[in-house]
Amino acid sequence: MSAGGLHDLQTVALTVNGSERTVAVPAHRTLLDALRDEMGLTGSKTCCAEGECGACTVLLDGRAVNACLVLCAEADGHEVTTVEGLSERGLTDLQEEFLNAGAVQCGFCIPGQVVSAEYLLRGNPSPSEEQIREALSGNLCRCAGYQRIVRAVQATAARRRGDRG
Ligand code: FES
Ligand code: FES
Repeated sequence: MSAGGLHDLQTVALTVNGSERTVAVPAHRTLLDALRDEMGLTGSKTCCAEGECGACTVLLDGRAVNACLVLCAEADGHEVTTVEGLSERGLTDLQEEFLNAGAVQCGFCIPGQVVSAEYLLRGNPSPSEEQIREALSGNLCRCAGYQRIVRAVQATAARRRGDRG
């Protein structure tokens, strides 16, 4: 064991998608890596690993965060929801509207887009196009499917409001 303790394991207890989980991780392990590598939740994607792309977006105590910028230890005692947690009972209405809008191209950014959009819609059931674009501005899509992604979020908002059958 190293004298500096960099590789010493810390025990972290957190709630992930409604289940209590305990993991032993080095102090520098990110929440993203712990979710993917320790818990097998690979829906959250690793891309830039520096907070620029949003592919790793999860909800931490209900707030959208970049999991690559959060240490696993910082999530101790907190509640994490990943894209898997949002869709435990099958595709959500939001995910269905992403498909309906043809917003899914390579798909790499989509889990992060879905989590960010869900966070937006929970706080704002009737977002304007500008608000949708702002809410998703931290989620980059290399396939540049932004217009279709916006349409998918608008369609979900309308569906939740009961504007259409
Ligand atoms: S992988 Fe976290 S923001 Fe890019
Ligand atoms: S669908 Fe390919 S990066 Fe967004």
